[in-house]
Amino acid sequence: MNEHVARDLERARARTLHLTDLDEPTLVAQHDPLMSPLIWDLAHIGQQEELWLLRGGDPSRPGLLPPAVDSLYDAFKHVRADRPGLPLLPPVEARAFNIEVRARVLDLLDRTPDDDLFTAGMVVQHEEQHDETMYATLQLRQGPPVMVGEALPTGRRLGHERAFVEGGEFVLGVDSAQEPFSLDNERPAHAVDVASFWIARVPVSTRQWRDFIADGGYQRRDLWSRRGWAHRVDADLTRPMFWTDEGTRRRFGLEEDLPADEPVQHVGYFEAEAFATWSGARLPTEVEWEKACAWDPTTRARRTWPWGSSAPTATLANLGGAALRPAPIGAYPLGASAYGVEQLIGDVWEWTSSDFTPWPGFTPMVYRDYSEPFFGGDYKVLRGGSWAVAPSTIRPSFRNWDHPIRRQIFTGLRLAWDA
Ligand SMILES: [Fe+2]
Repeated sequence: MNEHVARDLERARARTLHLTDLDEPTLVAQHDPLMSPLIWDLAHIGQQEELWLLRGGDPSRPGLLPPAVDSLYDAFKHVRADRPGLPLLPPVEARAFNIEVRARVLDLLDRTPDDDLFTAGMVVQHEEQHDETMYATLQLRQGPPVMVGEALPTGRRLGHERAFVEGGEFVLGVDSAQEPFSLDNERPAHAVDVASFWIARVPVSTRQWRDFIADGGYQRRDLWSRRGWAHRVDADLTRPMFWTDEGTRRRFGLEEDLPADEPVQHVGYFEAEAFATWSGARLPTEVEWEKACAWDPTTRARRTWPWGSSAPTATLANLGGAALRPAPIGAYPLGASAYGVEQLIGDVWEWTSSDFTPWPGFTPMVYRDYSEPFFGGDYKVLRGGSWAVAPSTIRPSFRNWDHPIRRQIFTGLRLAWDA
């Protein structure tokens, strides 16, 4: 178990170093007001690792950095827009700090009993989540490419586009016995009754989104919620983020043709909702999504992954970030869930119609402010992870949340229908 966590920590660090292997101006610049400078993320990763694993989560306990420097990396003290103006550690010092923290953490892990490893697993997921954030920052950055994406499997045309999920009870959420590194908002496991529904076997494609635009999707008030329409007008939304006037898109510094068979990404919740209405469908609730992903109606038990218990591989899901894009529709037939639903894990985060609320019996974890301050806020739940998430940081029970207007994250959608 210790070796497992140590390996995940090293994997996360390899990704962090890859993403920040950039010249100093690129690291220090703020590429978008929504995002931190990469150099903030870099030292914040080490600062949080030190706080949770070496300082018992108590910021008043002395650490390696002077208190005034340490507090620069407190995400609750400094909003993203203000971070470039802070006297942040230069890249060389940030890297040296991270190396020192990690050496002490690995030493400590050797002496940590298995049932005390949760916090280390949480720190792995924290670093991997920041890695995904850094991908989003690099997508927003202007200028020539600094990374090249790796090849993905080819897609395929699907016959039946919808899967039927029969109504009845299933087990929503997980417990630590089953998923030791699940975060507080995924717990506890509990029985939930769900009415029968249909869900699309694959995410919505770029081709479908072009049809929506061609049919006046962004001009037809009747397709949008009241709030969604007000935002569409205010923000002058006419197409997904990063699409251009020329019918191309900008992706990590490249301009390229829109890939018709790729899941659409960089759409906000309000657009997703309008698209679903245009399609005569709706978005799934997160409970429906999780049932379609994890439940096996034959064994009446949850699966670890949609496809079963084996760890994700390159033939099961698009994870880890190396591709820099979602895989084509139909690329992972072996990754299908018990209901025949594909591409649930990886590729694009999927907007659900659910607000972010606690499961009954919720108990905050050691990082108390991870979930609790956000419950009941203006957030919609996203499920399944994107191509940029790490395998250690996604599960069928994993819950992400964001404001409905956000589009810089790697978000798409999947349709559902009442039965
Ligand atoms: Fe953080």
